[in-house]
Parts: sequence; structure tokens; C-alpha cells
Amino acid sequence: MEPEFQQIVDELITSFHDAGQADIVADLAMPLPMTVIARILGVPHELMPTFKQWTIAFTKGVGALDMPREDIIDMFARVDEFYDYFTEQLAKRRAEPADDLLTDLLNARMDGEQPLVESEILQMLVQFLVAGNETTTNLIASTTKRLIEDPELMAKVRADLSLVPALIEETLRLEAPAQGIFRLATRDTEVGGQPVAEGELIFLMYASGNRDQDFFPDPDELEIDGSRAQHLAFGRGEHVCLGANLARREAQIAVTTLLQRLDNLAFADAGEKIPYLRSFALRGPTSIPVTFTKVTES
Ligand code: HEM
Repeated sequence: MEPEFQQIVDELITSFHDAGQADIVADLAMPLPMTVIARILGVPHELMPTFKQWTIAFTKGVGALDMPREDIIDMFARVDEFYDYFTEQLAKRRAEPADDLLTDLLNARMDGEQPLVESEILQMLVQFLVAGNETTTNLIASTTKRLIEDPELMAKVRADLSLVPALIEETLRLEAPAQGIFRLATRDTEVGGQPVAEGELIFLMYASGNRDQDFFPDPDELEIDGSRAQHLAFGRGEHVCLGANLARREAQIAVTTLLQRLDNLAFADAGEKIPYLRSFALRGPTSIPVTFTKVTES
């Protein structure tokens, strides 16, 4: 899908390229993963504004610290629309199989197991939306913010774009777009000397493990030259993130193209604080207004 990612990124950047100003979140970091997932799910172009509403509805509640009642009601109305639409699409694929993910999910079989039932398939689609959109948006936004905050880093990466993947990994480690996830203890155990009883709910913080000083020398420093130990931003083990490589590649292409096409990237209002999501589970800027000049072809 790389050429497709590149095409989407090119189109998004072209849409604000001449203006000399943009919001990195609204104009690039949010629409990129959303468009990618919509294409994977086969959502037609004309339905994109609705798809965006559904995506926002699903992610709004994740770890939200305060949410007005009307927003909660609106959120569930959108969620229903999403289920209705994809229930109908699954029925269509059942009647007329196509070469797409929905048909693949209907046909998926594991040795000796029953096919997935519709509610399982719908939950998987939700998982793509919730797990894949906001997190990737946060990664692209956080990486761009770090570059703007550190002109030396920006110059270094601009001069050698092969450093972009290492920059993305360090942003994943330091910013951890998914800060943590809940686990239910299935038996009495101990984590870091702390007893955990069977049935207890614990919030496992990848973000904290990513700054473990026993594991990462100078854990708070962004280090793109040496090879850092593997971080936990995508989890670990059986449930490791399914979309890790998708997210990595999207972010790498977005940041590389940004640096190739925009020069003098700066915060539009240097005195203004960048707003963040109000969530304990997800971390990322909600808006990054920037100014820039176009890179001139040499
Ligand atoms: C920067 C972007 C992303 C981050 C930081 C991230 C992070 C995570 C984390 C921490 C987990 C939990 C792992 C565990 O339970 O141990 C996870 C699981 C998952 N992620 Fe991601 N994710 C990202 C992007 C994506 C994308 C793009 C998709 C799909 C399109 C995706 C789909 C999933 C799914 C399906 C799971 C559940 C896997 C399972 O339980 O077997 N994620 N992700």
C-alpha cells in the first residue's frame, strides 16, 4: 500500500501547500490514517464525511476524563449508524463476494473453528477504527511537534531522511500514543514486586516502561543515532499491535514528505500552548497550527 500512502500524503500536503499555514493535526495527521482505514474497509469516497463522524464517535470516549451527557448520546447514535452500515455491507458481501477485507473476514477459517459470527466481525472493524486512527494521528502529530520544538533535530533529520524511521521509533517510545491498556489478572501474581490478585483490573502503562532507566540509558532523551532497546508502544506478545507496521509506514511517509516539501516549519503562535487530548489512555496534540515556506526545487 506504500504508493497509496504516498499519494494520499501528497494530496493532503498539496491541499494546504500554497497557503503557507496549516494545522498539522486537522490537515494531515487526522485525515491520513482515516483515509487509509476507509480504503481498507472499502468505504466509498462520498461517505468519507460520515465515516469521519463515526471515527470521532468511537474514539471520543476512549479514556475521556470529562464528557457531557449530550456528547455521550450523540456518540452512541453514530456508533449505531456505523453498525447499521457495516451490517448491510456484510450482507451484500455474503450475497456477492468481493476482493476485499470484509469478504476475507466472512471467509476466514482457523483449523477446526467455526467461522466468525457477525458481531465478532463488527467488533474487529471497530477495533481498526479505535485502535488504528487516533493512535496513528497522535504519532504523526507528536513527531512533527518534536521536530518543530528542536530546530537542531529538524536540521539533522532534514539533512539525512534515512533517520526518519529512528525518529518515529523514539517518538513512539517517548510519547506512547497508547499510554496503557487494562488487563484482568487471571490468577494471583506479582508485577514489579506488587502483588496482584486474581480478578483485579490493572492498567499496564507502556508509557512508563518506555522510560525505564534500567533499560534505556538517559530515558528522557530522544536518541536517533544509536540503537535503542525495543520499546513497548505497540505492546508485546500474543496481542501485540496488528497495525504496527501500517502505522509506522504511514508516519514515516508523512514525516518524510513534510520535510521534503515544507521549509521553515514553525508554530503559528510561538507563545500559544499546544492543546492535548484529555484522556488518560491516549496521548497526542489535538491541534498544531504551523507556518512554513515551500521547499524550492533546486
Ligand atoms: C501509532 C499507532 C498505534 C499504536 C501506538 C498502537 C498501539 C497498540 C497497543 C499498545 C496495542 C495493545 C497490545 C497489547 O494488548 O499488548 C494494540 C493492539 C491492537 N492494535 Fe494497535 N496501535 C497503533 C496503530 C494501529 C493500527 C493502524 C491498527 C489497524 C489498522 C491497529 C490495530 C490493532 C489491533 C487490531 C490490536 C489488537 C490486537 C490483539 O488484541 O490481538 N493499531 N495497538
